[in-house]
Amino acid sequence: MSLMNNLSTSTISSSSSAFLAPISFDSRTQSVAFPLKNINVVKCITNPQEQQTAYKTKVSRNANIAKLQAGYLFPEVARRRAVHLLKYPNAQVISLGIGDTTEPIPDVITSAMAERSHGLSTLEGYSGYGAEQGEKALRSALASTFYGNLGIEEDDIFVSDGAKCDISRLQVVFGSNVTMAVQDPSYPAYVDSSVIMGQTGQFQKDVEKFANIEYMRCTPENGFFPDLSTVVRTDIIFFCSPNNPTGAAATREQLTRLVQFAKDNGSIIVYDSAYALYMSDDNPRSIFEIPGAKEVAIETASFSKYAGFTGVRLGWTVVPKQLLFSDGFPVAKDFNRIVCTCFNGACNISQAGGLACLSPEGLEAMQEVIGFYKENTKIIVETFNSLGFKVYGGQNAPYVWVHFPSRSSWDVFSEILEKTHIVTTPGSGFGPSGEGFIRVSAFGHRENVLEACRRFKQLYK
Ligand SMILES: Cc1ncc(COP(=O)(O)O)c(C=O)c1O
Repeated sequence: MSLMNNLSTSTISSSSSAFLAPISFDSRTQSVAFPLKNINVVKCITNPQEQQTAYKTKVSRNANIAKLQAGYLFPEVARRRAVHLLKYPNAQVISLGIGDTTEPIPDVITSAMAERSHGLSTLEGYSGYGAEQGEKALRSALASTFYGNLGIEEDDIFVSDGAKCDISRLQVVFGSNVTMAVQDPSYPAYVDSSVIMGQTGQFQKDVEKFANIEYMRCTPENGFFPDLSTVVRTDIIFFCSPNNPTGAAATREQLTRLVQFAKDNGSIIVYDSAYALYMSDDNPRSIFEIPGAKEVAIETASFSKYAGFTGVRLGWTVVPKQLLFSDGFPVAKDFNRIVCTCFNGACNISQAGGLACLSPEGLEAMQEVIGFYKENTKIIVETFNSLGFKVYGGQNAPYVWVHFPSRSSWDVFSEILEKTHIVTTPGSGFGPSGEGFIRVSAFGHRENVLEACRRFKQLYK
């Protein structure tokens, strides 16, 4: 975390053309030449002189945002990648870092979006604002596809522009007076949105944690499921399965314990199932498979990693009508209010795409995309296994969690970037229990994954 504090103060810009040159890293790897995308550079704009003389408003900065550490993890990874490219302009950098999808969206899905899009140019096909909660047909298809026999109904489902956006909207519903727990390590949006809402104290450098958040340790020793007997009661429990970053998926028995724990404590679980369709093992894909979950859980999910919708933007959140606040008021009604106030509904073209995803051909096409990334995962797992590393995840999620005992995650991240031009994600960026791990994402073109594995083998042979 300390390295994250050393944000550079230069503005970096770049274009893709500089990165098309063949790799200079090793003669054995020169045969693969792949064009690189434009990089998304995080601009950290500061000109010390300008800062001193610039006009300032009288508005004070939100003190909660000021509590956040150097920045969101992924912009920091992107910044380091940009710095690396300035140093090695001809390097063929392979990104197995942020976890963005790379494979084209299946045609059956884009055709439906194109049709809706063209329809917007006609009097009959035009539509403006839609229902904030999403189109009826999509809500109904989501209910039957993912929650068929689980008692979740169409009106329990809120279609959105993605799970991350819903996580923040849920935080607005909860407000600043709740306490919350997260898996440690976990997807950074939970902690960061909690900090921004003012639910936490300051960051405590000695333990690398925010005060007033319950970090539920998830390590190889406990099979990446928290020891609930040591977890302090909180109002909200964020729980992601299959987990980003560890790739661990909770079993039915573990989730039954989690639901009981929430019930005993009167807590609400926010269950993130963004990777549910990556599950190979026979674990629940929805928290609502657990009896009684409807009274204690919300579930958020997304098309991002199933159909390459990271740019299209479409997700959904299930808030069952049985879930009540302490005064008996339905949580769904407040969520509806926030959705109507802060959001005007998901893009109608995206929703046409979502509906196509849930057609028989769309479901098959999504399974193919997922299968492709799972094959990548297998290649990465086998590579690190063959090098003698302890490797976790991969079986139920597109993430491989590689252990580098007694080493700093950021040091390993830098070593890999410097010596192989591969971008990974340092485990400590996901929480203190991620220290000593690197997350390797399986999202990538096959030739890039194979090339990355060749480079890993060379570095760690
Ligand atoms: C666990 C988890 N939840 C949510 C998201 C965000 O999904 P969306 O693209 O739908 O906002 C991600 C994206 O990486 C994720 O890993």
